[in-house]
Amino acid sequence: MSEKATLTIEGKNYDLEITIGSENEKCIDIQQLRDATGYITMDHGFGNTGSCYSAITYVDGDKGILRYRGYPIEEIAEKATFVETAYLVLYGELPKASQLKAFSARLKEHAPLHTNLEHHFSGFPTSAPPMAILSAMLNLVSCFHPEVLDVPTTGAEFDRTASLLLSKVRTIAAFAYRMAGGRPINHPNPNLTYCGNFLHMMFSDPYQEYEVSPVIDKALNLFLVLHADHEQNCSTSTVRVVGSSRANLFSSVAAGVCALWGPLHGGANAAVIEMLEDIKKSGRLPAYYIEKAKDKNDPFKLMGFGHRVYKNFDPRSLILKKQVHDVLEALHLDDDLLDIALQLEQATLQDDYFIKRNLYPNVDFYSGILLRAIGIPLNMYTVMFAIGRMPGWIANWKELHDHKLRISRPRQIYTGHTARSFIPMAQR
Ligand code: CMC
Repeated sequence: MSEKATLTIEGKNYDLEITIGSENEKCIDIQQLRDATGYITMDHGFGNTGSCYSAITYVDGDKGILRYRGYPIEEIAEKATFVETAYLVLYGELPKASQLKAFSARLKEHAPLHTNLEHHFSGFPTSAPPMAILSAMLNLVSCFHPEVLDVPTTGAEFDRTASLLLSKVRTIAAFAYRMAGGRPINHPNPNLTYCGNFLHMMFSDPYQEYEVSPVIDKALNLFLVLHADHEQNCSTSTVRVVGSSRANLFSSVAAGVCALWGPLHGGANAAVIEMLEDIKKSGRLPAYYIEKAKDKNDPFKLMGFGHRVYKNFDPRSLILKKQVHDVLEALHLDDDLLDIALQLEQATLQDDYFIKRNLYPNVDFYSGILLRAIGIPLNMYTVMFAIGRMPGWIANWKELHDHKLRISRPRQIYTGHTARSFIPMAQR
Protein backbone atom coordinates (compact mmCIF):
# COMPACT_ATOMS: atom_id res chain seq x y z
CA MET A 1 0.00 0.00 0.00
CA SER A 2 1.40 3.42 -0.93
CA GLU A 3 1.99 5.94 1.86
CA LYS A 4 -0.37 8.90 2.27
CA ALA A 5 -0.16 12.24 4.04
CA THR A 6 -3.19 13.25 6.07
CA LEU A 7 -4.27 16.87 6.14
CA THR A 8 -6.85 18.08 8.62
CA ILE A 9 -8.85 21.15 7.59
CA GLU A 10 -11.92 22.41 9.42
CA GLY A 11 -12.07 19.17 11.38
CA LYS A 12 -12.06 16.91 8.31
CA ASN A 13 -9.23 14.58 7.28
CA TYR A 14 -7.99 14.35 3.68
CA ASP A 15 -5.55 11.73 2.41
CA LEU A 16 -2.98 13.03 -0.05
CA GLU A 17 -0.80 10.81 -2.25
CA ILE A 18 2.92 10.71 -1.53
CA THR A 19 5.31 10.10 -4.41
CA ILE A 20 9.02 9.37 -4.14
CA GLY A 21 11.68 10.03 -6.78
CA SER A 22 14.59 7.78 -7.74
CA GLU A 23 16.86 9.63 -5.27
CA ASN A 24 14.29 9.33 -2.47
CA GLU A 25 13.00 12.89 -2.85
CA LYS A 26 9.51 12.96 -1.36
CA CYS A 27 6.49 14.96 -2.39
CA ILE A 28 2.87 15.36 -1.37
CA ASP A 29 0.62 15.48 -4.39
CA ILE A 30 -1.86 18.33 -3.91
CA GLN A 31 -3.35 18.37 -7.42
CA GLN A 32 -6.80 17.44 -6.12
CA LEU A 33 -6.59 19.64 -2.99
CA ARG A 34 -8.66 22.56 -4.24
CA ASP A 35 -11.42 20.36 -5.65
CA ALA A 36 -11.55 18.34 -2.42
CA THR A 37 -11.17 21.14 0.15
CA GLY A 38 -11.54 24.55 -1.53
CA TYR A 39 -8.00 25.43 -0.41
CA ILE A 40 -4.93 26.16 -2.52
CA THR A 41 -1.33 26.26 -1.28
CA MET A 42 0.83 29.41 -1.21
CA ASP A 43 4.53 29.27 -2.04
CA HIS A 44 6.13 32.57 -3.13
CA GLY A 45 8.91 31.99 -5.66
CA PHE A 46 7.96 28.27 -5.78
CA GLY A 47 10.67 27.50 -3.21
CA ASN A 48 8.87 24.37 -2.07
CA THR A 49 6.81 23.47 -5.11
CA GLY A 50 7.57 20.67 -7.54
CA SER A 51 6.35 21.68 -11.00
CA CYS A 52 7.14 18.40 -12.78
CA TYR A 53 8.71 14.96 -12.64
CA SER A 54 11.99 15.07 -14.53
CA ALA A 55 14.71 12.56 -15.42
CA ILE A 56 17.27 15.08 -16.71
CA THR A 57 19.23 16.60 -13.83
CA TYR A 58 19.52 15.82 -10.14
CA VAL A 59 20.57 18.40 -7.56
CA ASP A 60 21.01 17.72 -3.84
CA GLY A 61 21.54 21.19 -2.42
CA ASP A 62 22.41 19.99 1.09
CA LYS A 63 25.17 17.68 -0.07
CA GLY A 64 26.38 19.81 -3.01
CA ILE A 65 25.56 17.13 -5.59
CA LEU A 66 24.82 17.82 -9.26
CA ARG A 67 24.34 15.06 -11.84
CA TYR A 68 23.29 15.16 -15.49
CA ARG A 69 21.34 12.00 -16.34
CA GLY A 70 22.96 10.31 -13.32
CA TYR A 71 26.57 11.26 -14.12
CA PRO A 72 28.33 13.42 -11.48
CA ILE A 73 29.23 16.89 -12.72
CA GLU A 74 32.84 16.41 -11.56
CA GLU A 75 33.27 13.44 -13.94
CA ILE A 76 31.52 15.09 -16.85
CA ALA A 77 33.55 18.27 -16.39
CA GLU A 78 36.77 16.28 -16.47
CA LYS A 79 35.97 13.87 -19.28
CA ALA A 80 33.32 15.24 -21.65
CA THR A 81 33.24 18.00 -24.25
CA PHE A 82 30.28 20.36 -24.39
CA VAL A 83 28.94 18.62 -27.52
CA GLU A 84 29.03 15.23 -25.77
CA THR A 85 27.36 16.78 -22.70
CA ALA A 86 24.67 18.40 -24.84
CA TYR A 87 23.92 15.01 -26.40
CA LEU A 88 23.71 13.41 -22.94
CA VAL A 89 21.38 16.09 -21.59
CA LEU A 90 19.16 15.96 -24.68
CA TYR A 91 18.94 12.24 -25.28
CA GLY A 92 19.59 10.74 -21.84
CA GLU A 93 22.68 8.62 -22.68
CA LEU A 94 26.30 9.30 -23.50
CA PRO A 95 26.72 9.13 -27.30
CA LYS A 96 28.47 6.23 -28.99
CA ALA A 97 31.24 7.32 -31.42
CA SER A 98 28.91 7.07 -34.44
CA GLN A 99 26.15 9.04 -32.66
CA LEU A 100 28.58 11.78 -31.66
CA LYS A 101 29.89 11.97 -35.22
CA ALA A 102 26.38 12.36 -36.64
CA PHE A 103 25.44 14.92 -33.95
CA SER A 104 28.61 16.98 -34.59
CA ALA A 105 27.94 16.85 -38.34
CA ARG A 106 24.41 18.22 -37.77
CA LEU A 107 25.82 21.03 -35.61
CA LYS A 108 28.27 21.93 -38.38
CA GLU A 109 25.58 21.82 -41.05
CA HIS A 110 23.36 24.25 -39.13
CA ALA A 111 26.00 26.77 -38.04
CA PRO A 112 25.45 29.34 -40.84
CA LEU A 113 22.58 31.81 -40.68
CA HIS A 114 20.29 32.61 -43.61
CA THR A 115 21.73 35.69 -45.38
CA ASN A 116 18.52 37.66 -44.87
CA LEU A 117 18.72 36.92 -41.16
CA GLU A 118 22.23 38.37 -41.07
CA HIS A 119 20.90 41.73 -42.29
CA HIS A 120 18.78 42.08 -39.15
CA PHE A 121 21.85 42.50 -36.97
CA SER A 122 22.59 45.88 -38.53
CA GLY A 123 19.16 47.13 -37.39
CA PHE A 124 20.22 47.12 -33.74
CA PRO A 125 21.96 50.15 -32.24
CA THR A 126 25.63 49.40 -31.53
CA SER A 127 24.83 49.87 -27.83
CA ALA A 128 22.18 47.11 -27.84
CA PRO A 129 22.74 44.57 -25.05
CA PRO A 130 23.71 41.23 -26.65
CA MET A 131 21.09 39.44 -24.49
CA ALA A 132 18.35 41.52 -26.16
CA ILE A 133 19.78 40.70 -29.59
CA LEU A 134 20.04 37.01 -28.72
CA SER A 135 16.44 36.74 -27.57
CA ALA A 136 15.11 38.68 -30.57
CA MET A 137 17.19 36.73 -33.08
CA LEU A 138 16.23 33.34 -31.64
CA ASN A 139 12.59 34.22 -32.24
CA LEU A 140 13.49 35.45 -35.69
CA VAL A 141 15.25 32.21 -36.66
CA SER A 142 11.90 30.44 -36.64
CA CYS A 143 10.63 32.83 -39.36
CA PHE A 144 13.39 31.57 -41.63
CA HIS A 145 12.65 27.94 -40.77
CA PRO A 146 8.85 27.72 -40.61
CA GLU A 147 9.15 23.94 -40.47
CA VAL A 148 10.45 24.25 -36.88
CA LEU A 149 7.22 25.80 -35.64
CA ASP A 150 5.59 22.42 -35.27
CA VAL A 151 8.32 20.11 -34.04
CA PRO A 152 7.67 16.60 -32.85
CA THR A 153 9.70 15.74 -29.77
CA THR A 154 11.26 12.56 -31.17
CA GLY A 155 12.76 11.34 -34.44
CA ALA A 156 14.75 13.01 -37.18
CA GLU A 157 12.70 16.25 -37.15
CA PHE A 158 13.44 16.83 -33.49
CA ASP A 159 17.12 15.90 -33.96
CA ARG A 160 17.38 18.43 -36.76
CA THR A 161 15.64 21.24 -34.85
CA ALA A 162 17.57 20.71 -31.63
CA SER A 163 20.90 20.73 -33.53
CA LEU A 164 19.85 23.79 -35.49
CA LEU A 165 19.14 25.70 -32.29
CA LEU A 166 22.29 24.51 -30.45
CA SER A 167 24.40 25.52 -33.40
CA LYS A 168 22.76 28.79 -34.39
CA VAL A 169 22.70 30.19 -30.84
CA ARG A 170 26.51 30.25 -30.99
CA THR A 171 26.56 31.94 -34.41
CA ILE A 172 24.00 34.55 -33.33
CA ALA A 173 25.99 35.28 -30.16
CA ALA A 174 29.22 35.81 -32.09
CA PHE A 175 27.53 37.93 -34.80
CA ALA A 176 25.89 40.11 -32.12
CA TYR A 177 29.33 40.82 -30.66
CA ARG A 178 30.90 41.54 -34.06
CA MET A 179 28.12 43.86 -35.21
CA ALA A 180 27.95 45.77 -31.91
CA GLY A 181 31.60 46.71 -32.30
CA GLY A 182 31.20 47.62 -35.98
CA ARG A 183 33.41 44.65 -36.87
CA PRO A 184 32.90 42.51 -40.00
CA ILE A 185 31.24 39.19 -39.24
CA ASN A 186 33.12 35.91 -39.49
CA HIS A 187 31.22 33.03 -41.02
CA PRO A 188 31.46 29.65 -39.33
CA ASN A 189 34.29 27.36 -40.36
CA PRO A 190 33.19 23.69 -40.59
CA ASN A 191 36.73 22.47 -39.92
CA LEU A 192 36.67 23.77 -36.36
CA THR A 193 35.28 22.28 -33.16
CA TYR A 194 32.09 23.69 -31.55
CA CYS A 195 34.08 25.93 -29.19
CA GLY A 196 36.88 26.62 -31.69
CA ASN A 197 34.32 27.76 -34.23
CA PHE A 198 32.71 30.11 -31.72
CA LEU A 199 36.08 31.64 -30.83
CA HIS A 200 36.89 32.02 -34.53
CA MET A 201 33.54 33.78 -35.19
CA MET A 202 34.17 36.07 -32.20
CA PHE A 203 37.81 36.95 -32.65
CA SER A 204 39.15 36.30 -36.17
CA ASP A 205 39.94 39.46 -38.10
CA PRO A 206 40.21 39.90 -41.88
CA TYR A 207 44.01 39.80 -41.77
CA GLN A 208 44.44 37.65 -38.67
CA GLU A 209 42.78 34.27 -38.28
CA TYR A 210 42.20 33.56 -34.56
CA GLU A 211 44.33 30.66 -33.41
CA VAL A 212 42.47 28.50 -30.95
CA SER A 213 44.75 27.52 -28.09
CA PRO A 214 44.02 24.10 -26.54
CA VAL A 215 43.98 25.70 -23.06
CA ILE A 216 41.27 28.17 -24.06
CA ASP A 217 39.29 25.56 -26.02
CA LYS A 218 39.27 23.30 -22.94
CA ALA A 219 38.35 26.15 -20.59
CA LEU A 220 35.43 27.21 -22.79
CA ASN A 221 34.21 23.63 -23.06
CA LEU A 222 34.30 23.34 -19.29
CA PHE A 223 32.43 26.62 -18.82
CA LEU A 224 29.65 25.44 -21.17
CA VAL A 225 29.52 21.93 -19.67
CA LEU A 226 29.00 23.39 -16.18
CA HIS A 227 26.08 25.50 -17.41
CA ALA A 228 24.37 22.81 -19.53
CA ASP A 229 21.44 22.23 -17.17
CA HIS A 230 20.34 22.92 -13.62
CA GLU A 231 16.85 21.48 -13.26
CA GLN A 232 13.94 23.87 -12.56
CA ASN A 233 15.78 27.19 -12.27
CA CYS A 234 14.12 30.48 -13.24
CA SER A 235 14.92 30.38 -16.99
CA THR A 236 14.21 26.67 -17.42
CA SER A 237 10.90 27.06 -15.60
CA THR A 238 10.18 29.98 -17.94
CA VAL A 239 10.89 27.78 -20.97
CA ARG A 240 8.51 25.18 -19.54
CA VAL A 241 5.77 27.71 -18.74
CA VAL A 242 5.95 29.23 -22.23
CA GLY A 243 6.21 25.80 -23.86
CA SER A 244 3.23 24.56 -21.88
CA SER A 245 0.97 26.81 -23.98
CA ARG A 246 2.34 24.77 -26.93
CA ALA A 247 4.43 27.76 -28.03
CA ASN A 248 7.22 26.60 -30.34
CA LEU A 249 10.68 25.68 -29.12
CA PHE A 250 12.26 28.89 -30.46
CA SER A 251 9.91 31.31 -28.71
CA SER A 252 10.15 29.20 -25.55
CA VAL A 253 13.95 29.42 -25.38
CA ALA A 254 13.87 33.11 -26.40
CA ALA A 255 11.77 33.66 -23.25
CA GLY A 256 14.34 31.61 -21.32
CA VAL A 257 17.05 34.03 -22.47
CA CYS A 258 15.03 36.95 -21.07
CA ALA A 259 14.62 35.23 -17.71
CA LEU A 260 18.31 34.42 -17.59
CA TRP A 261 19.25 38.05 -18.21
CA GLY A 262 18.35 39.25 -14.70
CA PRO A 263 21.15 39.85 -12.16
CA LEU A 264 19.68 37.38 -9.67
CA HIS A 265 20.05 34.63 -12.28
CA GLY A 266 22.51 34.47 -15.22
CA GLY A 267 23.17 38.22 -15.18
CA ALA A 268 25.04 37.64 -11.91
CA ASN A 269 28.18 36.49 -13.77
CA ALA A 270 28.69 39.99 -15.20
CA ALA A 271 27.50 41.68 -11.99
CA VAL A 272 30.22 39.82 -10.03
CA ILE A 273 32.96 41.28 -12.22
CA GLU A 274 31.43 44.76 -11.97
CA MET A 275 31.38 44.36 -8.19
CA LEU A 276 35.00 43.17 -8.07
CA GLU A 277 36.05 46.07 -10.32
CA ASP A 278 34.24 48.50 -7.96
CA ILE A 279 36.00 47.01 -4.96
CA LYS A 280 39.34 47.32 -6.74
CA LYS A 281 38.70 50.94 -7.76
CA SER A 282 37.45 51.98 -4.34
CA GLY A 283 40.56 50.71 -2.61
CA ARG A 284 38.35 49.58 0.28
CA LEU A 285 38.80 46.27 2.05
CA PRO A 286 36.37 43.41 1.22
CA ALA A 287 35.12 43.72 4.83
CA TYR A 288 33.42 47.01 3.89
CA TYR A 289 31.39 45.25 1.16
CA ILE A 290 30.55 42.36 3.43
CA GLU A 291 29.08 44.76 5.98
CA LYS A 292 27.20 46.52 3.17
CA ALA A 293 25.74 43.19 1.98
CA LYS A 294 24.55 42.44 5.53
CA ASP A 295 22.90 45.84 5.97
CA LYS A 296 19.15 45.34 5.43
CA ASN A 297 18.73 49.03 4.57
CA ASP A 298 21.20 48.74 1.72
CA PRO A 299 20.05 47.01 -1.49
CA PHE A 300 23.62 45.82 -2.16
CA LYS A 301 24.10 42.04 -2.25
CA LEU A 302 27.27 40.09 -2.60
CA MET A 303 26.88 39.01 -6.21
CA GLY A 304 27.78 35.40 -6.93
CA PHE A 305 26.80 34.35 -3.39
CA GLY A 306 23.79 32.36 -2.25
CA HIS A 307 21.55 29.89 -3.99
CA ARG A 308 17.94 28.78 -3.68
CA VAL A 309 18.90 25.09 -3.65
CA TYR A 310 22.57 24.76 -2.61
CA LYS A 311 22.86 25.20 1.13
CA ASN A 312 26.32 23.78 1.49
CA PHE A 313 28.42 24.51 -1.60
CA ASP A 314 27.80 24.75 -5.30
CA PRO A 315 29.94 22.00 -6.91
CA ARG A 316 30.24 24.06 -10.11
CA SER A 317 31.88 26.87 -8.18
CA LEU A 318 34.56 24.52 -6.78
CA ILE A 319 35.35 23.23 -10.28
CA LEU A 320 35.46 26.75 -11.70
CA LYS A 321 37.70 28.04 -8.93
CA LYS A 322 40.27 25.34 -9.67
CA GLN A 323 39.93 25.88 -13.44
CA VAL A 324 40.55 29.62 -13.04
CA HIS A 325 43.84 28.92 -11.25
CA ASP A 326 44.88 26.34 -13.88
CA VAL A 327 44.03 28.56 -16.84
CA LEU A 328 45.71 31.68 -15.44
CA GLU A 329 48.82 29.63 -14.76
CA ALA A 330 48.81 27.95 -18.20
CA LEU A 331 48.37 31.31 -19.94
CA HIS A 332 50.88 33.05 -17.63
CA LEU A 333 48.24 35.57 -16.64
CA ASP A 334 47.67 37.32 -13.36
CA ASP A 335 44.25 38.70 -12.47
CA ASP A 336 43.95 40.93 -9.42
CA LEU A 337 40.17 40.43 -9.44
CA LEU A 338 40.85 36.80 -8.51
CA ASP A 339 42.78 37.96 -5.41
CA ILE A 340 39.85 40.15 -4.39
CA ALA A 341 37.39 37.29 -5.02
CA LEU A 342 39.46 34.91 -2.87
CA GLN A 343 39.64 37.48 -0.06
CA LEU A 344 35.87 37.99 -0.21
CA GLU A 345 35.17 34.27 -0.10
CA GLN A 346 37.59 33.79 2.80
CA ALA A 347 35.97 36.60 4.78
CA THR A 348 32.44 35.25 4.26
CA LEU A 349 33.49 31.80 5.46
CA GLN A 350 34.22 33.38 8.86
CA ASP A 351 31.19 35.61 9.01
CA ASP A 352 28.16 34.58 11.06
CA TYR A 353 25.66 36.22 8.69
CA PHE A 354 26.88 34.13 5.74
CA ILE A 355 27.39 30.96 7.79
CA LYS A 356 23.90 31.13 9.34
CA ARG A 357 22.23 31.67 5.95
CA ASN A 358 24.38 29.09 4.12
CA LEU A 359 25.60 31.63 1.60
CA TYR A 360 28.50 30.28 -0.45
CA PRO A 361 29.94 31.19 -3.86
CA ASN A 362 27.65 29.99 -6.65
CA VAL A 363 28.44 29.15 -10.28
CA ASP A 364 28.61 32.83 -11.18
CA PHE A 365 31.27 33.84 -8.66
CA TYR A 366 34.35 32.49 -10.45
CA SER A 367 32.96 32.02 -13.97
CA GLY A 368 33.49 35.67 -14.95
CA ILE A 369 37.18 35.48 -14.04
CA LEU A 370 37.45 32.43 -16.30
CA LEU A 371 35.68 34.25 -19.14
CA ARG A 372 38.05 37.21 -18.71
CA ALA A 373 41.02 34.86 -19.08
CA ILE A 374 39.46 33.39 -22.25
CA GLY A 375 39.10 36.95 -23.59
CA ILE A 376 35.30 37.19 -23.61
CA PRO A 377 34.06 40.78 -23.16
CA LEU A 378 31.92 41.57 -20.12
CA ASN A 379 28.69 42.30 -22.02
CA MET A 380 28.82 38.75 -23.46
CA TYR A 381 29.07 36.87 -20.14
CA THR A 382 25.38 36.15 -19.75
CA VAL A 383 25.15 35.27 -23.45
CA MET A 384 27.82 32.63 -22.75
CA PHE A 385 25.62 31.26 -19.96
CA ALA A 386 22.73 31.10 -22.46
CA ILE A 387 24.79 29.14 -25.01
CA GLY A 388 25.71 26.70 -22.26
CA ARG A 389 22.14 26.36 -20.95
CA MET A 390 20.62 25.66 -24.36
CA PRO A 391 20.77 21.82 -24.05
CA GLY A 392 18.94 22.01 -20.72
CA TRP A 393 16.23 24.31 -22.09
CA ILE A 394 15.66 22.07 -25.12
CA ALA A 395 15.64 18.89 -23.03
CA ASN A 396 13.11 20.38 -20.60
CA TRP A 397 10.90 21.60 -23.46
CA LYS A 398 11.04 18.08 -24.95
CA GLU A 399 10.26 16.41 -21.63
CA LEU A 400 7.31 18.74 -21.04
CA HIS A 401 5.85 17.59 -24.36
CA ASP A 402 6.80 13.93 -23.89
CA HIS A 403 4.91 13.98 -20.57
CA LYS A 404 1.96 15.78 -22.23
CA LEU A 405 1.79 18.24 -19.33
CA ARG A 406 -1.11 20.64 -18.90
CA ILE A 407 -0.74 24.36 -19.51
CA SER A 408 1.01 26.11 -16.58
CA ARG A 409 -1.52 28.21 -14.78
CA PRO A 410 -0.90 29.00 -11.09
CA ARG A 411 -3.66 30.23 -8.77
CA GLN A 412 -3.60 33.30 -6.54
CA ILE A 413 -5.23 34.59 -3.40
CA TYR A 414 -6.92 37.85 -4.32
CA THR A 415 -6.31 40.68 -1.81
CA GLY A 416 -7.82 43.65 -3.69
CA HIS A 417 -11.14 45.49 -3.29
CA THR A 418 -14.28 43.46 -2.99
CA ALA A 419 -17.04 44.29 -5.52
CA ARG A 420 -17.88 48.00 -5.84
CA SER A 421 -19.84 50.17 -8.27
CA PHE A 422 -18.23 52.08 -11.14
CA ILE A 423 -17.69 55.81 -10.34
CA PRO A 424 -18.56 58.20 -13.20
CA MET A 425 -15.73 60.54 -14.26
CA ALA A 426 -17.37 63.69 -12.80
CA GLN A 427 -17.56 62.14 -9.31
CA ARG A 428 -13.97 60.88 -9.00
N1 CMC B 1 24.28 38.79 -0.26
C1 CMC B 1 23.76 39.12 0.95
N2 CMC B 1 22.70 38.49 1.51
C2 CMC B 1 22.14 37.50 0.82
C3 CMC B 1 22.61 37.11 -0.44
C4 CMC B 1 23.71 37.80 -0.99
N3 CMC B 1 24.21 37.46 -2.17
N4 CMC B 1 21.85 36.10 -0.91
C5 CMC B 1 20.92 35.86 0.02
N5 CMC B 1 21.09 36.70 1.07
C6 CMC B 1 20.31 36.73 2.32
C7 CMC B 1 18.94 37.31 2.08
O1 CMC B 1 18.94 38.70 2.26
C8 CMC B 1 18.12 36.56 3.10
O2 CMC B 1 18.39 37.13 4.36
P1 CMC B 1 17.23 37.16 5.52
O3 CMC B 1 16.92 35.72 5.81
O4 CMC B 1 17.86 37.89 6.66
O5 CMC B 1 16.07 37.91 4.90
C9 CMC B 1 18.73 35.16 3.10
O6 CMC B 1 20.09 35.36 2.70
C10 CMC B 1 18.06 34.17 2.18
O7 CMC B 1 18.11 34.69 0.86
P2 CMC B 1 16.91 34.75 -0.16
O8 CMC B 1 17.04 35.99 -0.98
O9 CMC B 1 15.62 34.48 0.56
O10 CMC B 1 17.24 33.49 -1.04
P3 CMC B 1 16.59 33.13 -2.43
O11 CMC B 1 16.64 31.66 -2.51
O12 CMC B 1 15.27 33.79 -2.60
O13 CMC B 1 17.58 33.82 -3.49
C11 CMC B 1 19.51 34.18 -4.80
C12 CMC B 1 18.67 33.15 -4.05
C13 CMC B 1 20.58 33.44 -5.60
C14 CMC B 1 18.62 34.97 -5.78
C15 CMC B 1 20.17 35.15 -3.78
O14 CMC B 1 21.04 34.41 -2.95
C16 CMC B 1 20.91 36.28 -4.45
O15 CMC B 1 20.30 37.31 -4.75
N6 CMC B 1 22.25 36.14 -4.71
C17 CMC B 1 23.00 37.16 -5.44
C18 CMC B 1 22.76 37.03 -6.95
C19 CMC B 1 23.40 35.79 -7.52
O16 CMC B 1 24.56 35.49 -7.27
N7 CMC B 1 22.65 35.07 -8.37
C20 CMC B 1 23.14 33.84 -9.06
C21 CMC B 1 22.40 32.62 -8.60
S1 CMC B 1 23.15 31.05 -8.99
C22 CMC B 1 23.14 30.84 -10.69
C23 CMC B 1 21.96 31.31 -11.44
O17 CMC B 1 20.80 30.99 -11.11
O18 CMC B 1 22.14 32.00 -12.40
